[in-house]
Amino acid sequence: MSRALATSDPSQGSRPALQALPADLDPTRLPAHVAVIMDGNGRWARRRNLPRVMGHREGVEALKRTLRLCSDWGIGALTAYAFSTENWSRPGEEVSFLMALFERVLARELEALDREQVCIRFLGDLQQLPDGLQELIANAEARTASNSGIHFNVCTNYGGRRELVRAARRLAEQVARGELDPAAIDETAFAAELHTAGECDPDLLIRTSGEHRISNFLLWQLAYAELHVTDVLWPDFDAQALTLALLDYQGRQRRFGGIDPVSP
Ligand code: FPP
Repeated sequence: MSRALATSDPSQGSRPALQALPADLDPTRLPAHVAVIMDGNGRWARRRNLPRVMGHREGVEALKRTLRLCSDWGIGALTAYAFSTENWSRPGEEVSFLMALFERVLARELEALDREQVCIRFLGDLQQLPDGLQELIANAEARTASNSGIHFNVCTNYGGRRELVRAARRLAEQVARGELDPAAIDETAFAAELHTAGECDPDLLIRTSGEHRISNFLLWQLAYAELHVTDVLWPDFDAQALTLALLDYQGRQRRFGGIDPVSP
């Protein structure tokens, strides 16, 4: 698995050193796909008497750090909840700041993402995003589509219920056109109409800042994910916090509705 974002100026082509997997983690039992609800940016800023948006800015650093760690440690996919369909109800200034932040980060980091073989996709209802951001997204997805490294999925204007309704409508349209037999609609056919089509389901969901909620995130895909909730606020999420999440994951018995093979 190749490595992710450079910390320094991407135009210089410099790369931070590869980060070794902590010795207490079993490299053969890592999740293939980690999803993360990046919560607590506002609280992080408030505790420092800073405007909320400074928490989002710092949150980008935490996301870059996490992507790099996942890539270095051999995790195949990272899916991050950046902006939900409900986040439009935040104050206009905060929404505008976030949209401008996405644009700035994408423009600034694309070179390094591509060089490090990251394959980036934005999942959600993208048509509602500002035109400039849509163009940057289309360019980033096209440019990195054939990269061989970590899959980095950024859920933007994403809502789990909206995604399920969209999938149902797409299937219904295929039926109405006579292209699909309703009897052929099974879980595989349904999953193929989701934004995440082609991606394996997350094995581990991490939520920061102590809230025990799914918040309309990946409602279908998280069916069998292990959940790890940490009190750490997203901007403070680091290698130690990720290691604890992975240790927690490796301590779980995953049964997928079956029984523990060693139980009587
Ligand atoms: C939740 O914290 C965080 C968000 C709604 C925004 C997350 C976005 C980023 C970290 C930027 C990602 C950037 C790119 C380019 C993908 P909150 O504001 O709800 O925190 P609070 O619960 O403490 O108020």
